[in-house]
Amino acid sequence: MSKTARIAVLVSGGGTNLQALINSQKKGIISSGKIELVISNNANAYALTRAKKASIDTACVLKKECADQKEFENKIIEKLKEYDIDLIVLAGFMSILSEDFTSLYANRIINVHPSLIPSFCGKGFYGLKVHEAALEKGVKVTGATVHFVNEIPDGGEIIKQKAVYIREDDTPETLQKRVMRLAEWKILPEAVEEVSKKLIN
Ligand code: GAR
Repeated sequence: MSKTARIAVLVSGGGTNLQALINSQKKGIISSGKIELVISNNANAYALTRAKKASIDTACVLKKECADQKEFENKIIEKLKEYDIDLIVLAGFMSILSEDFTSLYANRIINVHPSLIPSFCGKGFYGLKVHEAALEKGVKVTGATVHFVNEIPDGGEIIKQKAVYIREDDTPETLQKRVMRLAEWKILPEAVEEVSKKLIN
């Protein structure tokens, strides 16, 4: 394997987690891996602009242009192979990947999820919905989790977690922002460095 792990980041939206990875790479918090490619399943994702600003190659793979899930995943795999990718980071990627895909990259796909798994996770729990559910339940502590991705949505081995206290006046939006700032943007780069380091050693 090369001296640094070749990383692809898969995104769907705003890309603040991608930005945290780019910043961490610049600061040297991530030094065992390098982001070589950003793939989006949404042509309008602001994450693509963030990637371009950082001179990172981008690709768009749109489900509506594919006959089925298989073709969608095959197009992504084609790109990953073209760039000789070692590690895949799902950073706000809002599409569930099949077992065919996850088994091809076992222990080489990681995801950031905005809750303390096993709470508020799995099918249907994504983005703001996770924080809505946490507030509805009335939990006092939430947080974020970085985990390996397997065939079970949000079911792979946990790599890192960080807790965030809920405030009485929180709305889903204020909670989402605080979980991102205090937890996701910290533990995702740390986990990427840890996993990259293991891959190259
Ligand atoms: C983040 O909070 C991420 O944890 C969540 O979506 C947001 C994406 O924000 N991901 C999921 O819910 C996946 N199940 P970003 O595009 O600004 O990084």
